[in-house]
Amino acid sequence: MTREEWLRLSAILGAGAMIPNELHAAFADGEIKRSDFGKDFLWGTATAAYQIEGAWNVDGKSPSVWDHMAHKRPGKIKTRENGDIACDFYHRYEQDIELMKKMGIPIFRFSLAWTRILPDGTGKVNQAGIDFYNKVIDKCIKEGVEPWITCYHWDLPQTLEDKGGWSNRDSIQWFEEFVDVSTKAFGDRVKNWMVFNEPMAFTMLGYMLGWHAPGKVNFKKFYKSVHHVTMSHGAGGRVIRKNVKNANVGTTFSCSSVETLKHNKANDKAVTRADVMINRLFVEPILGMGYPVKDLPALKHVIKHMQPGDEEKMKFDFDFIGVQNYTRIVVKSLLLVPMIGAINVAPKKLGHDITEMNWEVYPEGIYKVIKKFAAYPNIPKLIVTENGAAFKDELVNGEINDTKRVQFLKDYLGQVLKAKKEGVNLGGYFIWSFLDNFEWAEGYRPRFGIVGVDFATQQRIVKASGKWYSEFLAGK
Ligand code: GAL
Repeated sequence: MTREEWLRLSAILGAGAMIPNELHAAFADGEIKRSDFGKDFLWGTATAAYQIEGAWNVDGKSPSVWDHMAHKRPGKIKTRENGDIACDFYHRYEQDIELMKKMGIPIFRFSLAWTRILPDGTGKVNQAGIDFYNKVIDKCIKEGVEPWITCYHWDLPQTLEDKGGWSNRDSIQWFEEFVDVSTKAFGDRVKNWMVFNEPMAFTMLGYMLGWHAPGKVNFKKFYKSVHHVTMSHGAGGRVIRKNVKNANVGTTFSCSSVETLKHNKANDKAVTRADVMINRLFVEPILGMGYPVKDLPALKHVIKHMQPGDEEKMKFDFDFIGVQNYTRIVVKSLLLVPMIGAINVAPKKLGHDITEMNWEVYPEGIYKVIKKFAAYPNIPKLIVTENGAAFKDELVNGEINDTKRVQFLKDYLGQVLKAKKEGVNLGGYFIWSFLDNFEWAEGYRPRFGIVGVDFATQQRIVKASGKWYSEFLAGK
């Protein structure tokens, strides 16, 4: 039912007929208000070090797997671009944080470049790297913007990749050390920490499909990496707990509703297998449920890398889980496809709008994944730590009127609110992203920012979506 239909119906029913909450959320265009989410609900934007910082070799920073891949194999990035300069946030963080404050955005989620802090991966700490993040954190606090830190957003030191990267079991200790140094340096002022950004994305794209750094196509490395990253989840979480007083400890997952258009036995099984890969593989072991091998038998290749005592160490009591959603995945059975025996149905066949990433716009998807994760009995709280869209932006008379992004955000937020009103313990919502930035293998073309960046001049232009978010946050 549309809003108009509801209003017509309620006119017939009389003045007492109020819009039910679920419908209110579903046709919230122009009406959704900050106060609908309650006063404790958290609002922010999210970024990642390699995507915005630039200064790839400045002040003692060593190359990460992304620096290495983009320089040595530029063809891996569609536009042959790299993150050497990106948004130059390294030199412009003050103005950028001032802009956040001006826009009234309460939280800034960013990640730490491991290669600034420990250029050799482990061992000697680079004080200049610590100083940089201290300045960012102190500037945030000065401007009243709360810093939220992601320890790892995909930029492993290349020196560690040379030793096998996440496929080497030592990665658990390397990561522990990095988290230890970082939490000791920043934990006095930063209380909100996320261990990983989307482990499925960096293990699968990095070691199995080879689309992302380190660009490997190696199933064996993928299986090992899955287990070591799972172990590092627990290890990293425990270090944060130990070093940061009153920490709010979370981690983030890419989640998409997995569906099929034609239900039959084969397709339904394909949905289950793809759902394990996309949504369940990393979260279930940390919740103490073990690897979901029953529903995806190929995971026996992960399990064989477990050592005695690992089962216990994989568990960690996170304070919150970050769900990150952009689209839905529609699959059908194709047993020839290794591991999951399923292929994607092309988004353009689904009849909805498509973003610049070739992702289907599907607002109900965020509602479905929130409900799915909320159904796990031992997740205390969910936060949407990323949601957003890339559309073709046009600069006309100095303005970027990105109406599609505004509509996308309103529609997705409507679904987030619907889940919240149904009782999900949902604590916040962060837009991906604050700035247009380096979109990994896609280069700079898909633009996700609510603030546009002219990469030739580094000029920032608040888009209509940024203005909308500002007004929304300022409203009641
Ligand atoms: C997420 C990722 C971000 C960003 C976004 C849009 O999966 O965490 O770094 O790239 O997707 O593609």
